[in-house]
Amino acid sequence: MDLFEYQARDLFESHQIPVLAGAVATTPEQAYEAATKMGGKVVVKAQVKVGGRGKAGGVKLAENANDAKEKAKAILGMDIKGHTVNKVMIAQAAPIASEYYLAILLDRANRNFLVMASVAGGMEIEEVAHKTPEKLAKVGINPNIGIDKVKALEIVKSGQFPSDIADQVADVLIKLWQAFVKEDATLMEINPLVKTADGKIIALDGKVTLDENAGFRHPNHEELVDHAATNPLEKLAKEKDLNYVKLEGQVGIIGNGAGLVMSTLDVVAYAGEKYGVKPANFLDIGGGASAEVMANGLSIILGDSDVKSVFVNVFGGITSCDAVATGIVQALEMLGSKATKPIVVRLDGNNVEAGRKILNDANHPLIQQLETMDGAAANAAELAGK
Ligand SMILES: Nc1ncnc2c1ncn2[C@@H]1O[C@H](COP(=O)(O)OP(=O)(O)OP(=O)(O)O)[C@@H](O)[C@H]1O
Ligand SMILES: [Mg+2]
Repeated sequence: MDLFEYQARDLFESHQIPVLAGAVATTPEQAYEAATKMGGKVVVKAQVKVGGRGKAGGVKLAENANDAKEKAKAILGMDIKGHTVNKVMIAQAAPIASEYYLAILLDRANRNFLVMASVAGGMEIEEVAHKTPEKLAKVGINPNIGIDKVKALEIVKSGQFPSDIADQVADVLIKLWQAFVKEDATLMEINPLVKTADGKIIALDGKVTLDENAGFRHPNHEELVDHAATNPLEKLAKEKDLNYVKLEGQVGIIGNGAGLVMSTLDVVAYAGEKYGVKPANFLDIGGGASAEVMANGLSIILGDSDVKSVFVNVFGGITSCDAVATGIVQALEMLGSKATKPIVVRLDGNNVEAGRKILNDANHPLIQQLETMDGAAANAAELAGK
C-alpha cells in the first residue's frame, strides 16, 4: 500500500525523523485556516500517489494564508498524470540550502535491502540516477545488522555528504531504518532531504510503501487505506476474505488456485476477442471451495453490473469436484433470485464424473456445463457478447 505524502510525513514524525509542520486540506478554506495557524510562508502540495507533482505544477509556494487559499484553489481538482487532486498538504516553508536524496527499499533482485543516497537530490533525481549514476550511492544492508551508526556513516561517506551534516544524516538513516522495519515497509524514500539555511536536516517529501502481507501485525495501518479509491466490489470481497481483483471486462471468473485463474483469464481474453468481451475479474476461491465461499464469490461477481456471464473453472484436487458441484448448487439456492446471469461451469480432476452428475441432476436453468476449458471459455465469451 502506497501512502500519501502527508501520511508519510506523520509516520516519519512518529519515528522521530525531522519533518516540518504539515496539515491536510480538502478545500481552499481549510488551506487558509491551516496556513493561518502555521503562520509565515507555506508550501501547498498536491496529495496524489504519483511522482513528479512539482513539475506538473502541484507544488506551490504561498506568501501568506490568503495566497495559500488561492494556490489551493488552483491545485485542488487538478489532474496529475491521471490522478485527480482531492487533497492538498499545507507545509511550513523551509529555507533550503541543499537538497539531498535518501531511500531504503526492498531489493528483490538481490534478495536484500538497499539504501540509495545522493547529495544531488530534488526533482531531478531520476535524471541523476540515469545520467550520472556515480552520484547515487547504493549500499546493501544486511538485514540481521540493519543500519547502525557504523553503517550509517559508511552510507554518508559513499553518498559524499558534507562532513558538517554527516551526523545528522546518519541519525536520519538510523531512524529511517527503524521505521522501515517497525512498520514493515518495502520503500521509504525522502526526496528532498534538505539542509536548511541554518544547517538543519529535514525531510521535506516522503514516499512510503507498506507491505500489505504484514498488515495483520499493524491494525493501525487500516486507517491509512484510501477507501475512496478502493473499488466497492474489492472492498466487499476483502471483507469476505476473497482473493478478488476487479478488471474491466464482462465475463465473471471464478476458479480455484491462482495459477488456474490466471490461465482462465488468458483463455477468456483470447476467446473474447471474437465477441469484443474480456474477463471482468480475478477471483481465486482457493482450495476448500465450500458452498458458502462459492456463494460469496458468485454474489460478488453477480453484483458487478458489467458482468454478462460467469465462468466457473474448477480443477478438483484435495477438494473433489462433487464437493464443488454441491457448493455451486447450494450457492445458487442461497442466492435465489439474485442469481440472474448465465453460468458456464467446467469441472475436471478429482471425482469429476460425480461432480458433473450433481450439476446435471440439479438441472438449474442458469447453468451450462462444458468439459474443456477452451470450450467453456468460448461459450462464456459468446454469452457475454450477446
Ligand atoms: N516545505 C517546503 N518548503 C520549501 N520548499 C519545498 C517544500 N516542499 C517542497 N519544496 C520544494 O519543492 C520541490 C518539490 O517538492 P516535492 O519533492 O515534495 O515534490 P515532487 O518531488 O515534485 O513530487 P514527487 O516526490 O511526487 O515527485 C522540492 O524539491 C523543494 O525544492
Ligand atoms: Mg519529491
